[in-house]
Amino acid sequence: MKAQLAELEKEATRVLSAVAHGDALEAFRVKYLGKKGLLTAFMKKVGTLPAHERPEVGRKANLLKRELADRFRKKQEDLAARKTGGAAGLDVTLPGREPACGRLHPITQVILEVCRIFARMGFRVVKGPNVELDFYNFEALNIPKDHPARDMQDTFYVSDNTVLRTHTSPIQVRVMEKQQPPVSVIAPGKVYRRDSDVSHTPMFHQVEGLLVDKDVSFGDLKGTLTGFVHQMFGKDTALRFRPSFFPFTEPSAEVDIRCVICKGEGCRTCSHTGWLEILGSGMVDPEVYGFVGYDPEVYTGFAFGMGIERIAMLKYGIDDIQLFFRNDMRFLRQF
Ligand code: DAH
Repeated sequence: MKAQLAELEKEATRVLSAVAHGDALEAFRVKYLGKKGLLTAFMKKVGTLPAHERPEVGRKANLLKRELADRFRKKQEDLAARKTGGAAGLDVTLPGREPACGRLHPITQVILEVCRIFARMGFRVVKGPNVELDFYNFEALNIPKDHPARDMQDTFYVSDNTVLRTHTSPIQVRVMEKQQPPVSVIAPGKVYRRDSDVSHTPMFHQVEGLLVDKDVSFGDLKGTLTGFVHQMFGKDTALRFRPSFFPFTEPSAEVDIRCVICKGEGCRTCSHTGWLEILGSGMVDPEVYGFVGYDPEVYTGFAFGMGIERIAMLKYGIDDIQLFFRNDMRFLRQF
């Protein structure tokens, strides 16, 4: 009887380990654990044994029944887990899940690219405060008291003589105040204006450039900005310098590039002119040198400033500035 029981256990173990689906498991239950199963039949025979053998064999048979019932339940769980994709049913052939990976905002990317281009030409990257004194934002840049930019309507005032900077140009003054020429700096940052509609946001970004030394000419300004445009928009991009006015440069020029959309044919983006304005520039006005203690008889220099959102829109063909600030992942993921 004991040998029979051992044989039964061996067989049941083998059968159960081969079970791969619910039907086979049910067949196993019926055959070994069922009311008409082998173990029940075995138990019945225990009663026919001589009295002194009965307890031991009976105990062993009961033990085996409990053991097989346990293993049956375990197998049942495994099969269920496999169906619902639990650890036991891990399907290694399924495609992997890509971990979410952050990236730089398109505006940050353009700022970095502009800075990289000028850094290669020897410009040093500098920063300035967002909350700025009237002196640096307006006064020292030769912006007169009655200039519309100074109006409460156009500028965020923090106090009577403190503003949220309306452009990055005050950084020019802060740099010149601290060091004598030669200077060549590039200064990216946020700027603020009381302006909000489809094409304006109250905060946007600019990059300012300044170079002062002996014998710096308008030709140097043209060469530098031409090099920039060619690296930023491609070697075939035509550009032109158009006379303009800024209080802190004399002479001043705005730079246009050939329309990136219609290539100069004329379209809505370029208001049918074939040209797109991308930055303001000029030779630093001697008046500004007066505020920082540079000798205008010895030194000359140029400055320029550009709006980053505008550059990014033209470079990537984006027609809505608000897209940069909505944080829509479908938009941002494209860069
Ligand atoms: N600060 C000017 C603006 O916000 C842009 C600008 C024009 C900067 C001419 C310059 C410059 O440095 O020389 O519109």
